[in-house]
Amino acid sequence: MTTRWGIAATGRMAAAFTSDLLLVPDAEVAFVGSRSADSAAEFAGRFGASASGTYRDLVEAGRAGEVDVVYVATPHPQHHDLALAAIEAGTPLLVEKAFTATLAGAEEVVAAARAAEVFCMEAMWTRFQPALALARELVAAGEIGDVVMVQADFGAHRAFDPESRLFDLSLGGGSVLDLGVYPISLAQHFLGRPDRVVATGTHYPNGADASAAIHLAWADGRAAALTGSLSSSTPGRAVLVGTTGSIELEPPFHHPSRVVVRRGDEEPEVMERPARGSGYVHQAEEVQRCLAAGLAESPVMPLTDTLDVQWVLEECLDQLGIDMAEAPVEL
Ligand SMILES: NC(=O)c1ccc[n+]([C@@H]2O[C@H](COP(=O)([O-])OP(=O)(O)OC[C@H]3O[C@@H](n4cnc5c(N)ncnc54)[C@H](OP(=O)(O)O)[C@@H]3O)[C@@H](O)[C@H]2O)c1
Repeated sequence: MTTRWGIAATGRMAAAFTSDLLLVPDAEVAFVGSRSADSAAEFAGRFGASASGTYRDLVEAGRAGEVDVVYVATPHPQHHDLALAAIEAGTPLLVEKAFTATLAGAEEVVAAARAAEVFCMEAMWTRFQPALALARELVAAGEIGDVVMVQADFGAHRAFDPESRLFDLSLGGGSVLDLGVYPISLAQHFLGRPDRVVATGTHYPNGADASAAIHLAWADGRAAALTGSLSSSTPGRAVLVGTTGSIELEPPFHHPSRVVVRRGDEEPEVMERPARGSGYVHQAEEVQRCLAAGLAESPVMPLTDTLDVQWVLEECLDQLGIDMAEAPVEL
C-alpha cells in the first residue's frame, strides 16, 4: 500500500528527509507545503512531488484524503500550529524534534492527537537506527544487566548568527532544544522519566543557550550525565552503563552504525549495523508500519516519552533562565 507523504517546509531538514523518503518502499512524495507557493513548487519539482501549495493547501489536501501523513520540518515553535491543524483535519503526522518549543504546546498537541485518535510521532530518528535497535535488544536480553547510567554528549560548533534559527530565540534557538534533546531522549528511552533535573550552561549575547551540562537523577540511584553544545564540537559518544557491562554507541551516537559491548573483563565485542540512506529511512518506515497496523502511536517513540523529554527540556531551559514560546503559522 502506498503512503502519500505531505512535506511541511522547504528548509534543510525537509530536503534531507525527503531525499531519504525516495529510498523508502511504498512511499510517495505527494504534496509540499510552504509559506511560499513558489518555494513549495520548486521543492516539489526537485523531489518529484505531484502537488504543492501553501501550508493551508497542505492541510486541506490532508482533509480531502490526498495525503496520508504530514511531516513537519519548520523551526520548533512552528510545529505546534501545523500539528494542531493537521490533527484537526484528521491527518496523521510525524513532527521534527524538538517536538514543540514548550511543554504546554506539546501537551496540547498530544491531547488533540489522542482525542482525535490521529497518529502522531516525534521524529526522533535515533530510536530507529539499526544500531540503536540492536542496543535495545541487547539491553532487553540482559547482556549488560540493569541499565543504571547513561552518558552522552552532542556538541556541534556553529558560528553564532543571531538571525539563524539555531540561535534566534523566537525560532526556538539554542543548544538544548536543537542538540540537548538527543542525549535527553536517549536517557529517557533507557531509564524513563527522571525524578530530578539539574542543568547549568553558557549563553550567547542574545540570551540563547550555547551549551548545557545536564544531570538527571532517579530516586533509586540511577543517573544520566549529558551535555549539548552549539559552541564546541564534541565526539558525540554515548554509553549505556549496566550493572554487568556497558554498550557504547559509537559516534555519532544520534545515528550510530556500530556498538561496542563490554561485559566484565571480556574483550569488547564490536557489532555493526549501518543505517540506510542518511538514516531517516527507518523512522519513515516506522510511520508507514504503524499506519498500516492502524496504530495511533509508535511503541518505540510513544507520545508519553515525547512529553517526558519535553518536560526535561523545559526544566533545563527554566534553570538556564530561558523562556520559550510557540509561534503562529499563517494557515
Ligand atoms: N532530525 C535531524 O537530523 C534534524 C536536523 C536538522 C534539523 N532538524 C529539525 O528540523 C526542523 C527544521 O530545521 P532546519 O534545519 O530544516 O531549519 P531551516 O533550514 O531553517 O528550515 C526551516 C523551514 O521552516 C519553514 N518555516 C516556517 N515558518 C518559518 C519561520 N517563521 N521562520 C523560518 N522558517 C519557517 C521554512 O520553510 P518555508 O519557507 O517553505 O515555509 C524554512 O525553510 C527543526 O525543528 C530542527 O530541530 C532535525
